[in-house]
Amino acid sequence: MAAPIAFRLNGVDRRTEVPPDTRLIDFLRDRLELTAAKKACGIGRCGACAVLIDGRAVNACLVMAWQMDGADIVTPEGLETLPHAKTVRQALAEENAFQCGYCASGFVVVLTAYLRDHPGAQEQDIRAALEGNICRCTGYRSILRGAMAAARMLAEPDRDVPSDGSQSDASQTVEAS
Ligand code: FES
Ligand code: FES
Repeated sequence: MAAPIAFRLNGVDRRTEVPPDTRLIDFLRDRLELTAAKKACGIGRCGACAVLIDGRAVNACLVMAWQMDGADIVTPEGLETLPHAKTVRQALAEENAFQCGYCASGFVVVLTAYLRDHPGAQEQDIRAALEGNICRCTGYRSILRGAMAAARMLAEPDRDVPSDGSQSDASQTVEAS
């Protein structure tokens, strides 16, 4: 039987019902057509499906949609509202961090959560934070360069953090289709 859930998604309050066997990644991609979070391994090994749940990076293939009742979810589509996410994206882009890009959203989500709490993090800490993210293309050096550049930028927010990224107005409530 479908379960009613209410949650916040990318700054908008939503209500819907979900079957008990639907994973969050499938709910986001197949039902809500939010496809920036990717489904690759489907078993928690690659990080491609990462989203922010209550500010923490979580693999969306490992949680059920019904567990999102009361949660505040930010998918890669919603990261533009977070100033530190904009910095992470900018730094990765300047290093041409990705090739095919399939892994990119997962790296950005994980780095956004980690560097928010650890601005100025060093390489070994960033490597540890990214242990759950797999990239098949790059060899990781360009991603690490971008991540370290983001850490430096976030450690000096007055100089480098974009100034136009404000939280979105979350007053609207919509029904998920
Ligand atoms: S698809 Fe979720 S961790 Fe790989
Ligand atoms: S850039 Fe292709 S998987 Fe990472």
